[in-house]
Amino acid sequence: MSVPFYITTPIYYVNARPHLGHAYTTIVADVATRYHAMRGCDTYFLTGTDEHGDKIVEAAKKENTSPRNYVDTISALFRKLWPQININYSQFIRTTDKAHITVVEQVLAKIHAAGDIYFSEYEGLYCFGCERFYTERELVDGKCPDHETAPQKIRESNYFFRMSKYQDWLIDHIHSNPGFIRPERYRNEVLAFLKEPLEDLCISRPKTRLKWGITLPFDKDYVTYVWFDALLNYASALGYPDGKAYSKYWPHVQHIVAKDILKPHGIYWPIMLKAAGMQPYRHLNVHGYWNVEQSKMSKSLGNVIDPLELKNIYGVDAFRFFLMRDMAFGLDSNFSEDALVQRINADLANDLGNLFSRVVAMTHKYCEGRVPAVDPAAEAELGLGLPEDAAEAIDAYEQAMDEFAFHKGLMAVWNLISQMNRYIDVTAPWVLAKKKSARTQLEAVLYYFLEGLRVISGLVYPVMPATAQTMQKHLGLDPEQAFFNLDGLKTWGRLEPGTSLPKAVSLFPRVDPEKHKTAAADPVKKASELPDIKPEITFETFSKIDLRVATVVRAEAIPKARKLLKLELDVGAERTIVAGIAASYQPDELVGKQIVIVANLKPAKLMGVLSNGMLLAASSGDGLALIGPDKIVKPGTPLS
Ligand code: MSP
Repeated sequence: MSVPFYITTPIYYVNARPHLGHAYTTIVADVATRYHAMRGCDTYFLTGTDEHGDKIVEAAKKENTSPRNYVDTISALFRKLWPQININYSQFIRTTDKAHITVVEQVLAKIHAAGDIYFSEYEGLYCFGCERFYTERELVDGKCPDHETAPQKIRESNYFFRMSKYQDWLIDHIHSNPGFIRPERYRNEVLAFLKEPLEDLCISRPKTRLKWGITLPFDKDYVTYVWFDALLNYASALGYPDGKAYSKYWPHVQHIVAKDILKPHGIYWPIMLKAAGMQPYRHLNVHGYWNVEQSKMSKSLGNVIDPLELKNIYGVDAFRFFLMRDMAFGLDSNFSEDALVQRINADLANDLGNLFSRVVAMTHKYCEGRVPAVDPAAEAELGLGLPEDAAEAIDAYEQAMDEFAFHKGLMAVWNLISQMNRYIDVTAPWVLAKKKSARTQLEAVLYYFLEGLRVISGLVYPVMPATAQTMQKHLGLDPEQAFFNLDGLKTWGRLEPGTSLPKAVSLFPRVDPEKHKTAAADPVKKASELPDIKPEITFETFSKIDLRVATVVRAEAIPKARKLLKLELDVGAERTIVAGIAASYQPDELVGKQIVIVANLKPAKLMGVLSNGMLLAASSGDGLALIGPDKIVKPGTPLS
């Protein structure tokens, strides 16, 4: 029977759009899932969104919409993004799902009945950004370390979870299960924290202050603290307490988080599980942070990296490969687009891409595009150690992947690739091809290289599923068959002699570093190098232009004008404009969109229609892209 493997990502707050950091964690979960599927495990992969609490109410307010509307919109952005970067989750959970809410109520009631939740008045320092109380010693210069603002003193009656009661149990559990929190640096961090007495956790918020949450089952005047609600998603998703999936997968649960949420996962969560009589998780896998050009990613620095933009420029597999290869799991890493381009060109285009196209091309040139047969005598004479190298690479790869050391797993594969590139130079098939007497040797060599590539195609599958499939197709393997299993890779000699191979493809074209750049890449450098810049103007001149946000209410084609569309806008007042965007946009897709217009441009008549303003759009070789706010704002809002 196959062993279950259950992996979770954090459920992401819906107060921000998905960025590189979210993509990284979710790709890690996808890679781990695909790898375990290759090992024959029965896998389940959970991701989703965290939708209650102050943060969300604040974000919805800023967008002038209700929390319900707001969470639906942003949650959908996450859900829709994942398949676009080849993430194949089993379930997408939302904390606003009815089934989840029921489980939170059940667990609260259970812990309350057991006496581990009590009511008490508390005065403490509360950070509204973090939605939690801070102790003096957690503050840095009297301020919340995350928000760098002084917390406010508040006095409130609330419900508390008796975490302190389980402190010794948790310390013992961590000591007797060395892989419980990994890598070790984070295990040590949690143990260091547990050296001080644990305070009980405030798990309620009075409805007078916050309504957007799950009502406590034992007091309708309070909602549940967002972390107590959110952590339970990992169990509610499986149908706790008596769902089939729960009994099957729960004993195998592993979480992936970044270091920012180590404390809730390393301390609150195991204690909650213990108090609820549930089994603790198997592993908490903690990774570091992606910084951008050495700084923390943040909206105000304008360096938030959009995973879709990267994927669209560089391709999904190259993007996934870079993230897995360039971050040592557990440590921080620096994202730079130059490093990404270098990786693509060196590891993917040169090492792997060239090896693959050379071997397939030689098979076409010297063996009519068929997998050659191997003559045992020629094989023995050749004495090429490739099968042993492949076995060694698989061993090293397995060990690394089991420990979540993905970069090491990939290094093991790339050692094998380098070795094969060396073997090609040493055996020089093009020289063997010139001697009739070396025919059987040539065939044995090429068979070896094709087999080596089969092994490599399997090993890269978890990180680059599409590339693995292309490689296998070009090695003449049936894509419908499950070749992506480790045991199959360990058996040398699976390729069938005589199989016809499709012509070679270029797996990874080289990237011209000058041509490809995302918007977030090195904004400072870009500004100083701006080509064809218009003459400088003063701020006074610029401020004469009245730019406003407008919502498109109606859009229609103008008869006989191929390029023009007539747009009815809401700019706080009604407006009609005529825009030359028909080649890039259909009228239907514009309705509801927010755009920016120059509102004080002198009106002009176009094809008989009076245009009262002009919209802003970026024009490139690919057509036009409309400019609009990145979140919904009130129509008529001026730009400043
Ligand atoms: N909602 C909570 C988690 C609740 S889980 C029961 C939350 N959400 S979050 O949207 O802030 O996501 C935090 C997680 O996003 C991190 O733990 C990490 O997985 C990922 N990352 C966010 N920024 C990141 C980087 N800059 N680098 C790497 N991962 C990052 O916390």
